[in-house]
Amino acid sequence: MTVMTQTIAFTVNGKPVSVHAQPAARLAHVLRDELGLTGTKIGCDAGDCGACTVLLDGKQVCGCLVSAAQAAGRTVTTVEGLAADGKLSALQRAFHRHGAAQCGICTPGMLMAARDLLDRNPRPSESEALDALGGVLCRCTGYRKIVEAVLDAAGTADAGGSSADSSTAPAVGSAVGARLPKVDGVAKVTGAERYGADAIPEDALHLRAVRSPHHRAKFALGDLLPLRAKYPGLVEILTWRDVPGSNAFGIYPTGKDQPVLAVDEVRYRGEAVVALVGDKHTVTAIRDDEIPIAWTRLEPVMGAATALAAGAPRVQAAKQGNVLTRGRLVKGNIENGYRAAAFKAEGEWQTSFVEHAYIEPEAGWARRVGNRIELHVTTQTPYMDRDEVALVMGLEKDQVRIVPTACGGGFGGKLDLSVQPLIAIAAWKLGRSVACTYTRPESMAATTKRHPATIRARAACAADGKLTAFEMHADFDTGAYASWGPTVADRVPVHGTGPYAVPNVKNTSIAVHTNGPPSGAFRGFGVPQAAIAHEALYDMLAEKSGIDPLEFRLINAIRKGDATATGQVLQHSAGLAQCLIALRARWALWRREAEAFNAKSPTPMSAMLKRGVGIACMWYGCGNTSMSNPSTMRIGISREGKVTLYNGCADIGQGSNTIMIQIAADALGIPADRFDYVMGDTDRTADAGKSSASRQTFVSGRAAQFAGEDLRRKILRLANAGDGATLALAGSKLMIREGETRRIVDLLEMPADKNGDALFGEGTFDPPTQPLDGNGQGVPYATYAFAAQMAEAEVDTELGTVKVRRMAAAHDVGRAVNPTQVEGQIHGGIAQGLGLALMEEYLPGRTENLHDYLIPTVGDVPVIEVMLVEDAEPLGPYGAKGIGEPALIPTAPAIFGAIHHATGVRMHFAPATPHRVREALLKAGVAR
Ligand code: FES
Repeated sequence: MTVMTQTIAFTVNGKPVSVHAQPAARLAHVLRDELGLTGTKIGCDAGDCGACTVLLDGKQVCGCLVSAAQAAGRTVTTVEGLAADGKLSALQRAFHRHGAAQCGICTPGMLMAARDLLDRNPRPSESEALDALGGVLCRCTGYRKIVEAVLDAAGTADAGGSSADSSTAPAVGSAVGARLPKVDGVAKVTGAERYGADAIPEDALHLRAVRSPHHRAKFALGDLLPLRAKYPGLVEILTWRDVPGSNAFGIYPTGKDQPVLAVDEVRYRGEAVVALVGDKHTVTAIRDDEIPIAWTRLEPVMGAATALAAGAPRVQAAKQGNVLTRGRLVKGNIENGYRAAAFKAEGEWQTSFVEHAYIEPEAGWARRVGNRIELHVTTQTPYMDRDEVALVMGLEKDQVRIVPTACGGGFGGKLDLSVQPLIAIAAWKLGRSVACTYTRPESMAATTKRHPATIRARAACAADGKLTAFEMHADFDTGAYASWGPTVADRVPVHGTGPYAVPNVKNTSIAVHTNGPPSGAFRGFGVPQAAIAHEALYDMLAEKSGIDPLEFRLINAIRKGDATATGQVLQHSAGLAQCLIALRARWALWRREAEAFNAKSPTPMSAMLKRGVGIACMWYGCGNTSMSNPSTMRIGISREGKVTLYNGCADIGQGSNTIMIQIAADALGIPADRFDYVMGDTDRTADAGKSSASRQTFVSGRAAQFAGEDLRRKILRLANAGDGATLALAGSKLMIREGETRRIVDLLEMPADKNGDALFGEGTFDPPTQPLDGNGQGVPYATYAFAAQMAEAEVDTELGTVKVRRMAAAHDVGRAVNPTQVEGQIHGGIAQGLGLALMEEYLPGRTENLHDYLIPTVGDVPVIEVMLVEDAEPLGPYGAKGIGEPALIPTAPAIFGAIHHATGVRMHFAPATPHRVREALLKAGVAR
């Protein structure tokens, strides 16, 4: 294609530049593609996410909304311009110290917005900071540490005691528990971190998938040759016939049902049909209606109830009744439990599709290397990607190499394949590097979602509040393909009661195929949906039995020695009661304050506002359900004395790069700051499993501990030293000191392995679980995380809006390996839980962008008080358990509890958007 360009001159980061670009080209693209300044990120290209925020003549602008021509003659500052003389600015240091960057994809935009603020207003208030940052979305942090960092950099922060001290590395043996700044944090605050779209080779071809505009349709492809002739820059058009191996992938061996490219029929809006490969301008410029596809629309099957109705069309021919799978758990006798009860409660709750909305859209590139294919891609699960790509390509697993880039957020959505099979097929076939970056609407339409759920549940308790029975049935809309539907259907019955001792339980679930987008993994695997139901039931029972809601939960809290619904007796860590006790004083105070607020003689304005405080608990099994769940970690010391952690975990922002080093360092007895690392490269690391199910700290952390201990043992044996010896490295000299005795190992005198390491340790951990029987009885998880959260919310009864004013979160994490990162996970989980509760609803075809699909902004997330309970888990590394998913689960039910406390109205649909709240208030006669 002929592209009209002109020379445009402007100043970037103090240096004059001139580029040849289309005048209308977006500045963000020009910075990245023409000037190589990939620190400026592109999250939506529509001015919604703010990831591309730069300064134009000192003022923050979205780089995607400014044309190259508008920049002519002006000054542009990007994240690369913040550091001076190789030194981080005070603002960057504050971000690094406070853990304000998790995945880091929003960090450049946040920094530029903050820079604009501080240049205009060197000592801003918190509300001024919130205003200034309001245009940049972050999906990981919950914003609190970003605000802390900005105020700290301005010298206006309340110290708060939660920031990391980057000036001193923790001493030997004290890395675990230290607020160590992220080992990859400097790269994130300077823009040097490379995500999926940041290091694409210049000569790479680009691939764009053409996707179904219909929920369900038959199609026929016409003659593609005229399109090839019309566009010389179009190198290849891939159809399903180009898939060299299996055109069916999926997580489970029995669930490989999703085509890479559809064959004759599409089953959801956004399904890929063909893929265009060529130069970037060409594949972007070709309109979808130029592709010769003849569509025959079919009536879609939307919603689980429709799919389960008698006579419903089958979404997949092989799936009878549209049922993907069923889950079941029975303990005791539910009817006996009801007969013994003094109080009963029941209800039905519904939730929606929820989009992961990570700020980094799916991206990566592939190249063929001899008879191997190599993919550089954003992912949560390099080894599963390797296996799935091998399947699709018809290759052996060792012919596929996955090199994970930095991952700009995942939350479960990057556990499934996205760009991987398409770029692999194209690169293999063409013998050239091929890249693909999803647009935001494509990312939202094509990828997995949180399962919408319809949950019917009832529960009963004795007069003293002790639970006697619990019953739940959940229908999950699993969309067109299996993805992680079986995991959700299996996990929810286990967790359905919540973290309480209940003698009689019956929980069932069905994952149902529809013509919705595939529902997959999303922070909690269905447990957050179930928690909305069980926590509401317990509030209802507490009210009926006249027991305070917190005390009701304390009466029933499952404890060490109690049996779960699966009959598993909790052997070790079970800190829910401690979490509730930690909240008790605040609970009483906040409830009193809310009731006093509501009782104040109302003015016409304040009469509309009602405050309430809710509480909710959660538990979460760390790791896969009743499955082998191993992780292997390795540590090497090179002949030059470099210590490397070969870490197969994908760090998706949760901080595993740092946490694994903290654990390994203490196990080995070498300071953490001596460690380098390799992340997730399937040629260089061992399989550590996926970064999901809150398993990496617990499972891979234990493997890292074992690897450190293994290497330490080998060193001590080499030096004939005892357990108490200390280790130190000075260049190639490894010194082992035991009392007055000092031995020196010259690593240069030792042979090196293929990694160049003279010494090497390895550790593997597979948490002990047992399969569940036909009644769901067994040991599905080796350990569980526990938490209780409180939310104070204010409901505007006229508008139906709900503002969460503050939250308190008490979490039993076993051991906080890095408290700053644990707090960050809790903040981020709460922000996502708030979105689930109040605003997030993905509607295929209607909310496929970040202006129609709303996620919490910095102004939506309240002050959050975090209390860490450390009920050590002996199986975990230094006692640690997981925190990723537990952080989100109790938030929505706590907010729903607050709405009820404020208004007396119980919400039964998430999200509780203003129109739903208003409708419920009207129905209850609370508003007019
Ligand atoms: Fe903000 Fe990940 S750290 S989006």
